[in-house]
Amino acid sequence: MRAHEAGALHGDIGSRPPWLRPPGDVNALVPELWPRNVARAADGALAVAGLGVRDIAAEFGTPVYVLDEDDLRSRCRDFRAAFPTEDVYYAGKAFLCRAVVRMIAEEGLHLDVCTGGELATALSAGMPAERIGFHGNNKSVAELTRALDAGVGRIIVDSFTEIDRLTALARERGVRPRVLVRVTVGVEAHTHEFIATAHEDQKFGFSLAGGAAAAAAFKILDEDVLELRGLHSHIGSQIFDANGFEVSARRVLALQAQIRDARGVELPELDLGGGFGIAYTTQDDPATPQDLAKRLRKIVDSECAAERLAVPHLSIEPGRAIVGPAVFTLYEVGTVKSVLVGTGGDAAGGRCYVSVDGGMSDNIRTALYDASYSATVASRASAAEPMLARVVGKHCESGDIVVKDEFLPADVQPGDLVAVPGTGAYCRSMASNYNHVPRPPVVAVRDGRARLIVRRETEEDLLALDVG
Ligand SMILES: Cc1ncc(COP(=O)(O)O)c(C=O)c1O
Repeated sequence: MRAHEAGALHGDIGSRPPWLRPPGDVNALVPELWPRNVARAADGALAVAGLGVRDIAAEFGTPVYVLDEDDLRSRCRDFRAAFPTEDVYYAGKAFLCRAVVRMIAEEGLHLDVCTGGELATALSAGMPAERIGFHGNNKSVAELTRALDAGVGRIIVDSFTEIDRLTALARERGVRPRVLVRVTVGVEAHTHEFIATAHEDQKFGFSLAGGAAAAAAFKILDEDVLELRGLHSHIGSQIFDANGFEVSARRVLALQAQIRDARGVELPELDLGGGFGIAYTTQDDPATPQDLAKRLRKIVDSECAAERLAVPHLSIEPGRAIVGPAVFTLYEVGTVKSVLVGTGGDAAGGRCYVSVDGGMSDNIRTALYDASYSATVASRASAAEPMLARVVGKHCESGDIVVKDEFLPADVQPGDLVAVPGTGAYCRSMASNYNHVPRPPVVAVRDGRARLIVRRETEEDLLALDVG
């Protein structure tokens, strides 16, 4: 389904995706889609770490992002265990707040930030600066200055302008930052497909094919105030297919060999980026961190052997795979409306629109990426038949869809709580105030207790910015 500017009637409505089948039990949870400590309690309502969602809604209101803290911590540990000698950078763009910085720091992860705001959040939560990698295609002088003054561990340089800026700033300060060169390898990977292209038409990094990546590496090697530690590549998002990593590792290690041959320097590090997929719906089957580690090591080992390079110290940057599955969004249903959508498909004759009290302001991914999600009625179990429904928000856009297609019980009604899993990554971090809707809070639940870690925005917050 693609939202259409002209309205829903112009979108392809009336059918359900082939992977979505009517469930035998509309109350059953598919465990892979939910945080590890979520289950239906004896009263039929969802509970997270033993705390019922009705209690969460009563205390914090809806919509609310609910973080299963032990789930997030266990995913950090899974990555640490799978990559014990490598560095695992949590990609903070997926979701960042001080409590999460502390959690990932305690679990032994590094942190990837890409703006001054993310850096400020990390530093204010006590993240050791040497465990921070600073990304971004347009880092300002102020941001680079702050990064140098804080002593961040790695700066991933992205342009010749940045190399000049960084060189001048480092010289002024008498410091020697450790840098990686972000290489655009001409591989684009999303979900089950990847494309290897000859040219690299995007804003990130230095082109490999055009020679800019090699030139950037040589320029840095010529600057005594910069320490070139290695190369970096990041090829996409929600990736399930390791072939894209194989092509990117081959290309980036070929550059590593070119640098060795030209300058006699073997760079000691290689960062393969993030992008590891998670299960949003039953159509997704992500690899475990152990599988990923095995595959990535095999790829790097064989490419290094082919280039006669020593295997560099590896790092990865998972964001979504750590925080995405640890969170669900809890909404309250406001209206339920059946509409006639014409002929054909399961929705022939009608589709049920279930409107919740949030929408594209707290989850833009459906509208932006045509993302698929699942949902369940969370406040009770139902004995009603499954009914194909669409969960929509309260915004003034017909494309304001949270869950395009899901089977909900036919008796779903105003006042029910609906939970949407897999919303930890790129939902709160991409949230907006569209239609002057204040952004929802984030509540961390552990051992049956809820803790507010990001408070709800208020209308006062919105008006406080409006100084005209
Ligand atoms: C350089 C870099 N590293 C890591 C990530 C994290 O990706 P994901 O959250 O899909 O793992 C991104 C996402 O855009 C990125 O640009």
